[in-house]
Amino acid sequence: MNKILISITILGTLATISNQALGSINHSSGHSHNTTFNQATLTKEFQKPLLIPPLLKGEIKNGVRTFDLNVTKGQWEFIDGNFTETYGYNGPILGPVLSLKKGEKTKINIKNNLSEETTVHWHGGILSQDVDGVHNADIQPNTQKSVEFILNQPAATLWFHPHPMHKTASQVYKGLAGLIYLEDEQSESLKIPKTYGVDDFPIVIQDKKLTKDGELTYSTTHMEKIHGKSGGYLMINGIISPYIEIPNGLMRLRVVNGSNATNYDIDLNDQEFYQIASDGGLLSKPVSMKKLTLAPGERGEILVDSKKLNNKSYLYINGKEALELRKNKKSGLTQIPETLAEIPEITKNLADLKTRTFTLKTTSKGNTINNTPYNMEKLNFDVQKGIQEIWEIKNGSKMMDMPHPFHVHGAQFRVIERNGKIPPLNEQGWKDTVNLNAGDTVKILITYTTDGITVYHCHILEHEEDGMMGQFKINN
Ligand code: C2O
Ligand code: CU
Ligand code: CU
Repeated sequence: MNKILISITILGTLATISNQALGSINHSSGHSHNTTFNQATLTKEFQKPLLIPPLLKGEIKNGVRTFDLNVTKGQWEFIDGNFTETYGYNGPILGPVLSLKKGEKTKINIKNNLSEETTVHWHGGILSQDVDGVHNADIQPNTQKSVEFILNQPAATLWFHPHPMHKTASQVYKGLAGLIYLEDEQSESLKIPKTYGVDDFPIVIQDKKLTKDGELTYSTTHMEKIHGKSGGYLMINGIISPYIEIPNGLMRLRVVNGSNATNYDIDLNDQEFYQIASDGGLLSKPVSMKKLTLAPGERGEILVDSKKLNNKSYLYINGKEALELRKNKKSGLTQIPETLAEIPEITKNLADLKTRTFTLKTTSKGNTINNTPYNMEKLNFDVQKGIQEIWEIKNGSKMMDMPHPFHVHGAQFRVIERNGKIPPLNEQGWKDTVNLNAGDTVKILITYTTDGITVYHCHILEHEEDGMMGQFKINN
C-alpha cells in the first residue's frame, strides 16, 4: 500500500519540482532569524486541505462541562507516503479545539497513553498552581488525572501544551498542542465570523525538521540549544503547504505561533487586514495592518476581506507562500466592526508601583534570567495578590542576536512601553507573551489574582529548558 503511494507521489513530484526550489526566505524582517524552510521538496504544494481539528463542546455532567483528552502516540504523514511517529491529543497530531465559556465550570479528564510522563498547561489561562500543569503535575504513563477550573477572563484564543520538566520542547515538537476557544457575551454578540471551519479557522504555525525519509525526531545540537530548534518544513495544523476554501467576504484566522523557536511574519502580499485580538482577548478596535509578527507562544486573530483577494491567493509566512486561499461561492460577512471590546485604560500613577527587572540573556554558557538559571528548589521572589506591579523586561543578548518571547503563567498583562515609547496598537490589549528583539526593553503592567507558585520564562522552548525561567509565590 505504502509503496504504491510512494511511487505515485514521486511521479507527481517530477512535474512540479521545477517551481519548488528549496525555499530560503526572510526578506521581510530581521527578527525571524534567517530561518530556512526546505518546503515541499517531496510533497506537492497546495494539494491537501488544511486539517481542521474537531471543535469539542464537551458534555455537561453534574453541571460541569467535561472533556476527555487522550495523550497518545500516532503515525503522521508529513511527507506523502512516509509515516512517522508523532504525539497528539485524541489523535495522531495536535489536538481538538475545546470550546469553553467564561465563568463556566470545566473539567478535563486527561489520560496519558505515552510511554513517558507528561503534563497539560493551559497557556494564557488565569489559573492557580494546582491546575496550571507545571508543579507536581506529572501524569505518569497509563495513568489518568482530572483537572477542574473556571476561566474567568475575557474571550480569547488560548492554547494547551505539555510542560513537564526537560520534556516540554520535545513533546510540543512531536505534536502536542491544542486550542481553547474561550467565548463570552461580548465575543458572542459581535458580528464577526464565527462559523468554525467555514469563516473562522484555527491556524497553528510550526516548523519541524524531517529526515529525507520524512522521519520526525527531536534532538538538539549545541547550536540548537543556544538558538532554539528552528527551520525545516513549515506547516499549518500539521500539514505542509495546505489550502482552504474561504467565503467571499470576511474570514477570521486565529493564528497561533506553536513553534519551538521561530518568529513568523505573516502577510498577504501587501494586502491590508485587521487584527482583532491578541493573546488574551479582543482588542478595543480592529487594527489595520499589512504584516503580523508572532513570536513562539503568541496568538493573533485577524480578519481578512476576501473580496479584495484574487480567486486564488496566499497567506505568506516569512515571505514564503504557506497557505493557499481559494474563494468559494458562499458569501460571508462584509462589515468590519468599529469597536470590539472594552479594555481598561491605564490611568493609575505608575510611578507609585513596585518595579521588577528581568534581563534575559543567551551566552555560550547558557540561557538565564538576571544571570540565574532556573532552580526548581528556589523561589526568585514573591508578589502580593491583587497588587499591580511594573515589570521591566530586557533582552540582554547583545552579542547573540536572539529574540526572546517573555511569557508569564497565570496572568494577562498590558504592555505599557516598548523601548521608551507607547507600544503599537496591536500590543495594547491583553497579552501573556511579549517578544523582545536583541536590545529591546519592554515595560508591562501586571497583577496576580491566582494562588500558589507560578512561573515566567522565554517561550523559545529550548531556552526555557536550558534555564531561561523563574518562579515566584503569590502571597495572600
Ligand atoms: Cu506556553 Cu510555560 O508555556
Ligand atoms: Cu503558559
Ligand atoms: Cu529566549
